[in-house]
Amino acid sequence: GLKKKEVNVLCLGLDNSGKTTIINQLKPSNAQTQDIVPTIGFSIEKFKTSSLSFTVFDMSGQGRYRNLWEHYYKEGQAIIFVIDSGDKLRMVVAKEELDTLLNHPDIKHRRIPILFFANKMDLRDALSSVKVSQLLCLENIKDKPWHICASDALKGEGLQEGVDWLQDQIK
Ligand code: GTP
Ligand code: MG
Repeated sequence: GLKKKEVNVLCLGLDNSGKTTIINQLKPSNAQTQDIVPTIGFSIEKFKTSSLSFTVFDMSGQGRYRNLWEHYYKEGQAIIFVIDSGDKLRMVVAKEELDTLLNHPDIKHRRIPILFFANKMDLRDALSSVKVSQLLCLENIKDKPWHICASDALKGEGLQEGVDWLQDQIK
């Protein structure tokens, strides 16, 4: 068959936001794992869509590993940024990390697409994706295509919409 275009994606966001759970859901079912543990450093994962073959750098969001993120910015052709919509206390920390990302020289002047998942929408006190978008000031991102989806990574809800958007930005 036709060879799919290869795309490197960086999966970023605070620890416990659900990055690894999301990536796991996007993999073919025979490649999925049952027990997901906090990522140490980072992990390289792969999944395919109808036209693209994604290589994902699933980064640890723990504070002590966040300084690893920037080493992969140059290679990244797209970003998936995951937010725990139930973690109101750390929304400001998520914003700080996002702002640091957006101001980084390897990201700042590139039209790199950013897909946001407002994850854990199943939690009773989860913020809406509109509220998350406001708290992160996403409307200020004017030089990059971006999109935010509410998701429930445990059930896999909202993920396909996001990945379809990402594929449209790249293909
Ligand atoms: P680090 O690797 O430490 O950066 O964390 P991570 O962002 O990869 O988070 P991970 O996927 O390990 O998920 C953290 C916890 O959140 C796990 O217990 C998941 O089961 C849980 N979780 C992930 N997504 C959801 C969701 O949509 N809803 C709920 N309720 N829990 C979720
Ligand atoms: Mg992880």
